[in-house]
Amino acid sequence: MDKFGKLDNREKTIAVIGDRWWANEAVENGDKMCNKFLCSLWQKRKKLPNVGGVSSRGRNGAPSRKGRVVHAGGRAEDCAEAAEGETVERALVQASGSGSGSEDDDDDDTGAEGNAGGSGDDDDGDHPEGGVGGGGSSGGSGADARQQRHPKRRRPSSFAGAGGAGKRRDGKGKRRPQDKFSVAMESLHVTAVPKSLPCRNDERNQLLSFLTSNIKAGGLGNALFVAGMPGTGKTATAHEVVRILKGQQARGLLPRFKLVELNGMRLTEPHQAYPQLWMALSGEMLSPKRALYKLEKYFSRGDPSREFVVLLVDELDYMTTRKQTVLYNLFEWPSRRNARLVVVGIANTIDLPERCLPRVSSRVTSRLTFGPYTKLQLAEILQARLVEANAIGGKASSVEGKAFDNGAINMAAAKVASSSGDMRMCLKYCRRAIEVCKARVESAKEDGNGDKVSWEVSVKDVHVAVREINEQAHLVAVRDSAPQERLLLVAITNEVHLGGKGVVDMDDVRTRMEGICRAHPNGPRMPNVTTILEMISRLAAAQVLELVLSRRTPLPDVELNMTVRDVVQMLRDDEEFSRKVLPDALVSEYPTTSSLPG
Ligand SMILES: Nc1ncnc2c1ncn2[C@@H]1O[C@H](COP(=O)(O)OP(=O)(O)OP(=O)(O)O)[C@@H](O)[C@H]1O
Ligand SMILES: [Mg+2]
Repeated sequence: MDKFGKLDNREKTIAVIGDRWWANEAVENGDKMCNKFLCSLWQKRKKLPNVGGVSSRGRNGAPSRKGRVVHAGGRAEDCAEAAEGETVERALVQASGSGSGSEDDDDDDTGAEGNAGGSGDDDDGDHPEGGVGGGGSSGGSGADARQQRHPKRRRPSSFAGAGGAGKRRDGKGKRRPQDKFSVAMESLHVTAVPKSLPCRNDERNQLLSFLTSNIKAGGLGNALFVAGMPGTGKTATAHEVVRILKGQQARGLLPRFKLVELNGMRLTEPHQAYPQLWMALSGEMLSPKRALYKLEKYFSRGDPSREFVVLLVDELDYMTTRKQTVLYNLFEWPSRRNARLVVVGIANTIDLPERCLPRVSSRVTSRLTFGPYTKLQLAEILQARLVEANAIGGKASSVEGKAFDNGAINMAAAKVASSSGDMRMCLKYCRRAIEVCKARVESAKEDGNGDKVSWEVSVKDVHVAVREINEQAHLVAVRDSAPQERLLLVAITNEVHLGGKGVVDMDDVRTRMEGICRAHPNGPRMPNVTTILEMISRLAAAQVLELVLSRRTPLPDVELNMTVRDVVQMLRDDEEFSRKVLPDALVSEYPTTSSLPG
């Protein structure tokens, strides 16, 4: 445990999440709790770069729970978000409340036997009732822990309650202006729940009318598949719809229904969906096998007086198994006569049903796709969140002055729109830009120049924030790369080093890779062209490489976005690999000290 003590909070998490070698060592030396924590982090590293995903792809081509493979779309930057504010100490406490999941992706039709512990955790605040999270064997005490373990899962706050923004009062009970940066920070937090979701009206209305018609009819045998890239507002929209439906039900405008929420990422393994669902329906905790038996009976019973069930399954990508039984059952149950059930599955993989067996895809009756946000949309959403929290300034604001210059908001939106369209990323850039701005102002004040600098987040602050976050992403992407990707990186680095040129020809890189593989038969196997293409696109998404389209070959030329020194130092961290594969010329040229955090 004392390993964590030497680093600052950001470094700790990067080091632990990002580095297999480091984590292995910590596991060997760490205690049981540390071990559990590392296991759960490693399995649930959704936010980490997809680099390394070749080896983690499920046998059926569908994304594996061990390393989600989605579109090569800029998720790499998110690695730093995993680090943001998430202290290892806190995470350790959280991990102690969660079961360590099985890594085994195999399943069989009988369902995994095991301890179906973990009562459903009902998210507070804006999460709908009846939500059941991942269980594990640790029981319900881990509800908060599970929710906070992941940056996306921190306890939600609403703007109204976000630190009491706008509610703080001075000694005489009068409102006093808030620090504009704190208000902006809170409003841009990923867990803050905005009152409305601009740019998602169509999607919200479609989901709302789908669920309303099903609830009113007592079931239409429907299963809806919602898909979209990360951070496109799928979960936020689904929760908004749930809030609306609950409101309508409370006003007597809708028949009664029971909402159950499952989250694939919080389940220790897909079969845990059965006990979690059964627990939410009956209050009884059973093993997966028993729960499946009960659910089969429940949805086949055909009792028309039974309460209608709306089942929301988020992070469906994590629920794929070899035989896809869990997905099949979830999508098949609504089609049974009098099942009184409607299912909405949410995933990142747009073609998830197509990647599944036909028996699964045929059960998906409707689809809804969330496209990535454009620059204008991202800027509009940012503005709306700031206005809603009164962090934009103006006469009506309880905050003194604007926190953001308009150009800065547009710059953050443009940066994200050009890579992923991920709102979560946009929020992260802006929050970091606030910190950069505050540091700039503080240092100017110390120098007695406080009145000479701008007290608003500027375009330059956003630039600095984006660069910092992306630089971290580079490092973690390389550290986290799979052996074949390391082989590719070695070959590219060698070409850059020997050729002294920026852009290298991928044919030369391939020849070099083949040479390395021949010379080191115990090293990584030579990948085929398709795999090389996948690898370079993932490394490009993590901004480790720049792709330069080439007319001559199907493979683009590539440019290294990092210095040869940085890549070599990182690869040297894996001693076994570097002994086997790194050419002597590179090893002798660069010192052994790593520039990496941790
Ligand atoms: N239209 C919007 N208006 C305001 N905030 C939004 C909007 N869309 C997304 N967000 C915010 O972006 C963050 C990510 O959104 P959300 O979790 O819904 O994405 P997602 O599509 O479910 O991502 P993932 O696939 O990774 O689960 C949340 O903080 C959410 O509040
Ligand atoms: Mg989501």
